[in-house]
Amino acid sequence: MRATVFTTGRFRAKLLQPETDNAAVDDLSQRCADYALMLTGQPPDRDASAAFFAAVPDGKTLADMWKLGVFDSAGKLVALADVAREHPAPGTWYIGLLLIDPTVRGRGVGAAVVRGVKQEAARNGAVRLMLSVVTENERALKFWKTQGFSVTRDLPPKRFGRKQHARVELVANVRC
Ligand SMILES: CC(C)(COP(=O)(O)OP(=O)(O)OC[C@H]1O[C@@H](n2cnc3c(N)ncnc32)[C@H](O)[C@@H]1OP(=O)(O)O)[C@@H](O)C(=O)NCCC(=O)NCCS
Repeated sequence: MRATVFTTGRFRAKLLQPETDNAAVDDLSQRCADYALMLTGQPPDRDASAAFFAAVPDGKTLADMWKLGVFDSAGKLVALADVAREHPAPGTWYIGLLLIDPTVRGRGVGAAVVRGVKQEAARNGAVRLMLSVVTENERALKFWKTQGFSVTRDLPPKRFGRKQHARVELVANVRC
């Protein structure tokens, strides 16, 4: 049975495993085709789950990561989050991905996940959360700012699929 990392309202965040969760992650990625199109200019890969589980920053291992799935009360996967603990430096947890099923966006699921990750980070002695956002993703930028994140610097442009993106780094204190 999968460990529940945190519960927030009627949602449970659990650690996902490639062996058991590939299909559900692929399915959610297909439902989030708008995000893939914005980021890469292409539809989501059929096996997007492979990239999700393989994404581990340099110097980290899968054991340092939380590959989180958020399940609703019916047991349906409605969100993914990818968190690298103690990265890029001790005391910092890095959110590599937050992806909410379009049918439940704007209902507080994203905010609940951020709250849960913040609480767990604080409980484990971390002091800040960090992430990067492509500037084309204006909705996400607005979302992160409402969650207490501030832009700290411009990052070098990066290519995702067919598109080149300007990016910014954002940081939030986990104890506020
Ligand atoms: C961005 C995203 C994670 C937000 O999650 P969500 O569950 O829709 O957000 P919530 O319902 O928790 O909203 C929290 C706040 O953000 C605001 N917000 C959420 N979605 C918004 C949108 N599409 N446009 C404008 N504001 C939005 C809400 O109004 C709310 O503000 P409030 O607390 O002042 O009322 C989600 O829309 C998503 O998965 N988008 C596609 C993937 C993506 O861009 N991920 C982020 C990559 S950096």
